[in-house]
Amino acid sequence: MFKGNKLIRNFLNLSDIKATQLNKILTRAAYLKKLRKKNKNSLSLKNINLAMIFEKPSTRTRVSFELAIKELGGRSVILDEATTHLSRGETIPDTAKVLSKYCNILMIRTTNHKKLIEYHRHSKLPIINGLSNISHPCQILADIMAYNEKRGAIKNKKFVWLGDLNNVLYSWIEASVIFNFSLSICCPKLIKISKELKAKIKTYHNNVKIFHDTKMACRDSDCIITDTWFSMGKKPTKKLLKAFKPYQVNEAIMSMAKKNAVFMHCLPATRGNEVTEGVIDNLNYSLVWSEAENRLHIQKAILEWCLKKI
Ligand code: CP
Ligand code: NVA
Repeated sequence: MFKGNKLIRNFLNLSDIKATQLNKILTRAAYLKKLRKKNKNSLSLKNINLAMIFEKPSTRTRVSFELAIKELGGRSVILDEATTHLSRGETIPDTAKVLSKYCNILMIRTTNHKKLIEYHRHSKLPIINGLSNISHPCQILADIMAYNEKRGAIKNKKFVWLGDLNNVLYSWIEASVIFNFSLSICCPKLIKISKELKAKIKTYHNNVKIFHDTKMACRDSDCIITDTWFSMGKKPTKKLLKAFKPYQVNEAIMSMAKKNAVFMHCLPATRGNEVTEGVIDNLNYSLVWSEAENRLHIQKAILEWCLKKI
């Protein structure tokens, strides 16, 4: 766990933050969502400047953070790493110091989680993890908000993750302990598990179980989650595609879950790979559009929390 400077609130991993604080963010996001539906906004972050650095592509994270800060009265600057001097060797410490002269908070999407900490060390600004190689905490809070809205409390529910073992899963594992639900992970035997995930699963073995048999994992579950089989930077191969195929979320898999079970996916999806059209577009149980929408409300609350407005 990285605590950093206790006076500064970073949003790097869910497990760094107390459950009471995460619940505060969820409650605030629900309030801001209601306010927006009435065409109103809180101007809690007037004149705050947010810089966002992207080392990888993004649609949802980029749009939701940009609109979030603007709707709260602040401004944003977006830096695609490839078009900055970072791509020609300017260091993170120098970049962080410069950004701290203009900005109040940084959101970073990175290929290496350690860089988030480096930015924090050298800028002294709050840092938000907008997806790293190991985790995606903003996404999972938006997803929990979507589950709460559609099916109520998440406590004691049975969630299943199918497919690849990746950054999004890492944050779901942390969430399972914080919010007290069980998480069955079901993946092909072929998939290698990163050392970060291995350590997480070992620590949280009471909540988290690994399966390779979909029937055993999905039976009586309340929610089935998946994500792309090939995260950004991962090369698809025929061998992997074949290994993942039995873990595709299709109608047969959904029918193993409880009658009122839901489907979640952080998007972007590769339709026909990890999920079928019939499942992702099923308005009775697919929460994907609510998950995406809630990114906006959750980002607002995360920004306010990091800047100690809530
Ligand atoms: N789910 C998510 O983070 O989407 P983007 O990659 O489009 O930001
Ligand atoms: N696991 C995916 C998530 C994208 C939001 C990736 O890292 O590409």
